[in-house]
Amino acid sequence: MHIPVMLNECLEALITDPKGIYVDGTLGNGGHSTAIFDRLEAGGLLIGFDRDLDAIERVKGTLKSEQGKRVELVHDNYANMADRLDRLGVDRIDGLLLDLGVSSFQLDIADRGFSFMQDAPIDMRMDQTQGQTAAELVNTASEQELADIIYRYGEDRASRRIARAIVDARAKMTIETTGQLAGIVERAKGGRKGRKTHPATQTFQALRMAVNDELAGIEQVLETMVGRMKPGGRMAVLTFHSLEDRLVKQFFGRHVPREESLQQGGVRRIYEAPPVEWIWKKPLVATAAEQAANPRSRSAKLRAVETGE
Ligand SMILES: C[S@@+](CC[C@H](N)C(=O)[O-])C[C@H]1O[C@@H](n2cnc3c(N)ncnc32)[C@H](O)[C@@H]1O
Repeated sequence: MHIPVMLNECLEALITDPKGIYVDGTLGNGGHSTAIFDRLEAGGLLIGFDRDLDAIERVKGTLKSEQGKRVELVHDNYANMADRLDRLGVDRIDGLLLDLGVSSFQLDIADRGFSFMQDAPIDMRMDQTQGQTAAELVNTASEQELADIIYRYGEDRASRRIARAIVDARAKMTIETTGQLAGIVERAKGGRKGRKTHPATQTFQALRMAVNDELAGIEQVLETMVGRMKPGGRMAVLTFHSLEDRLVKQFFGRHVPREESLQQGGVRRIYEAPPVEWIWKKPLVATAAEQAANPRSRSAKLRAVETGE
């Protein structure tokens, strides 16, 4: 079961007009989308994106146009959102939600290869219809490339040691499964040493982010969609680790006007157009009760902005 994270907070942040147009960029199991759709009234439109065809197929069965409200489901990377909205004849929207990362559904299906909890081929593609698998990456990237990926996206200081161990291991045999990879990383890091998380956690996160080119996708959807919001429209993003959160914070930060005093007197507002305002100055985190009920919510941060003219 995928429990939607900070559901009420997301709905409060997002919905300003129940007859408006809302886009959920990360449909997943449809948890947030279903709740958004429930709040819409006749004339409202919900557009759900997911690059995972399984997610689209699953949600198609339960979320359907009814009572004068419409649903459109799009199988694509949210990086292509603006083009896909053009094709649907949609210009500006009232709200955009992004709930980043993988769904528990993806994590739970062993053959998707996201998790080292079950031994399976290392795939890690969110869109299994295209692109390089994590196994291909692990077996073909240079030692330097692997070290860079693990350092940049996993922020693991043992990145060089891990990259070396991967290259040594693959000289003897192709690395095919999550279990093999987890074992190689664990040995390279000198075992578990009483760590709370598995020593391969960061390497797995890093490979997933590289295989799916995640940060570039986030940057692209924010960049193109900030200009497609109606005045007063809302953008809400749930992030689950510091790299994502920093990117979102810095992106919106550039659009929030700040005042600079002029030598000749007066002030001028500096910002990247269009201007936005934070809905809350600090990101929201899940309540203690939600964190106790849903471990995935523990690392969640919700940032939201309202767009200006
Ligand atoms: C955390 S889940 C979303 C869960 C959803 N909010 C719910 O309540 O069920 C993230 C989903 O976003 C999808 N996703 C991640 N990156 C994407 C991208 N660049 N484009 C489209 N979908 C993406 C994943 O395939 C996954 O299904």
